[in-house]
Amino acid sequence: MIIGGSASQKLAAKVAWSLEEKLSPIETRRFPDGERYIRVKGEVPKEVVVIQSTGYPQDENLMELFLLLKNLKSLGVERTRVVIPYFGYGRQERRFKSGEAVSAVIIAELLEAAGASEIYSVNLHEKNIKQFFNIPVHEISAMPMIANYIKETIDDPIIIGPDKGALGFAEEVSGILKCECDYLEKTRISPEKVETKLKNLDVAERNVVIIDDIISTGGTIVNASKILRDLGANKVVVGCVHPVLVEDALLKIFAAGVDDVFATDTLKSDVSTISVASSVAGYLKKYE
Ligand code: R5P
Repeated sequence: MIIGGSASQKLAAKVAWSLEEKLSPIETRRFPDGERYIRVKGEVPKEVVVIQSTGYPQDENLMELFLLLKNLKSLGVERTRVVIPYFGYGRQERRFKSGEAVSAVIIAELLEAAGASEIYSVNLHEKNIKQFFNIPVHEISAMPMIANYIKETIDDPIIIGPDKGALGFAEEVSGILKCECDYLEKTRISPEKVETKLKNLDVAERNVVIIDDIISTGGTIVNASKILRDLGANKVVVGCVHPVLVEDALLKIFAAGVDDVFATDTLKSDVSTISVASSVAGYLKKYE
């Protein structure tokens, strides 16, 4: 049985369809004072899959997930596999300043305490999140789906990581497509000046695809697109796994001369054109 939380209804329906599993109806609404009401309708089996992304509004989506998990446990469910397509609060995975809450660790502990038996997530921003759990964590890469999308839509692409941290994604995609890849490297010229340059390749007249895991404010992509345009790129297309897209991020990206933006449906957005449903379904089947 698949249960879709309110942040991932469409994705949950697609996964259920793919697995030919029943999609369980839940009732979720607010009491007049703003508190959350959850009801799982009908009989629940011993094993359940819950799908809920924990992007914005993070706190609400997490609270719904905690209520759901605890509720399922008290209804007699023995194994609850939790698919968190986008793992919110995943960026603070250490204490940078004294006294800071290490939110990724706290969320991991709360998910376990709430009754999660296993976690499935897509491209975790920090790989060490897995170590914060005592239950199995399966990480799914969206890069094969992104590569497939590029193959079908862009001629002779060159894949670019907007910074060194994104080089791994660019390499994974270019490895599948058997095309070139590179990344933008930042060099500090002086305490006030940072220069960003393409590490190795020439993008003049090329169709460039910038790949990152997250687009949040869009700042990283705007900077990268402007540089690639200045270097004479023909087409500049941007792809990411998790379209966090804070406020007017998309507007800023298109205003920087980007031709197109695509993302997966780990989060709902105007550019979530690639579905991770079949891959999530494949993982659920694999670890059945
Ligand atoms: C950074 O580590 C990530 O991979 C993304 O590059 C970053 O989250 C993007 O943030 P923004 O869109 O705010 O520049």
